[in-house]
Amino acid sequence: MTNNLTGRVAVITGASSGIGAATARQLARGGAKVALLGRRKDRIEELAAEIGGDALAMVADVGDQQSVRDAAATVRAAFGPVDLVVANAGVMLAAPFESALTDEWDQMVGTNINGLLYTGRAFIDDLLAAASAGKQADLVLVGSIGGHTVFPNYAVYTATKAAVAHLTRNLRAEFGPRGVRVKNIEPGFVGTELGAGMRDEQQRAGLEQWRTQIEILEPGDIADAVAYAVSAPKRVNVAELIVVPTHQG
Ligand SMILES: NC(=O)c1ccc[n+]([C@@H]2O[C@H](COP(=O)([O-])OP(=O)(O)OC[C@H]3O[C@@H](n4cnc5c(N)ncnc54)[C@H](OP(=O)(O)O)[C@@H]3O)[C@@H](O)[C@H]2O)c1
Repeated sequence: MTNNLTGRVAVITGASSGIGAATARQLARGGAKVALLGRRKDRIEELAAEIGGDALAMVADVGDQQSVRDAAATVRAAFGPVDLVVANAGVMLAAPFESALTDEWDQMVGTNINGLLYTGRAFIDDLLAAASAGKQADLVLVGSIGGHTVFPNYAVYTATKAAVAHLTRNLRAEFGPRGVRVKNIEPGFVGTELGAGMRDEQQRAGLEQWRTQIEILEPGDIADAVAYAVSAPKRVNVAELIVVPTHQG
């Protein structure tokens, strides 16, 4: 699928792997300039080289507000004002509530909630300016089907994603009337590195097993959904998009 994104300047957080990397490739294919944010320098530099001249690799930690602000300044200097932000960086660390290592909770809240807030804040003036100039302006927040369903041992992760869903609705109410399309893309199971860092071995093995039980999505399937949503005419906000493997139900 290709969508016309010529002239757009996009920022993708968590572009070093999985859904973020696929989305960066897809938006670039559509003609957007893409700024790739992530902590793993080698990965984002590799991807920027693969995409070519209209890609910029920037090391940033979305849980650190100054780091995101610095990255925003670098993107503007290189590409000009931004009109498309995909706040995708996230972590999923499952464990029983009573034995969880609570620094994993902090990491999930810091990345999946604070990271989205800091990312949105760092670019909102650009998005408002783009909208005022009559252009499409998109803030895409990547949530999860987990924000609507219950999974034992995933309470904190799913709570962060429920927060993303409600944050999206409220930001939509705040910015829709000013022309900025805030949207929530909510994937089901996708084959990525998500969860690879969880320290509870039983949960990690359980996740790997779940992923083999049905035909799960590829990162490009979610990238297609993002590209579709941000390419819609200015009057259309594809505000909430759940994309799950067919057999996930
Ligand atoms: N895979 C699924 O089944 C699934 C389902 C529903 C929702 N999602 C959501 O989709 C999003 C992308 O996940 P994924 O599946 O593509 O997993 P992934 O391959 O693990 O990608 C996660 C990305 O987030 C980045 N990241 C994590 N912490 C960061 C931080 N503090 N600062 C900057 N970047 C950070 C990682 O890059 P660095 O480590 O290089 O920083 C990586 O690029 C997440 O929000 C996830 O919750 C995924």
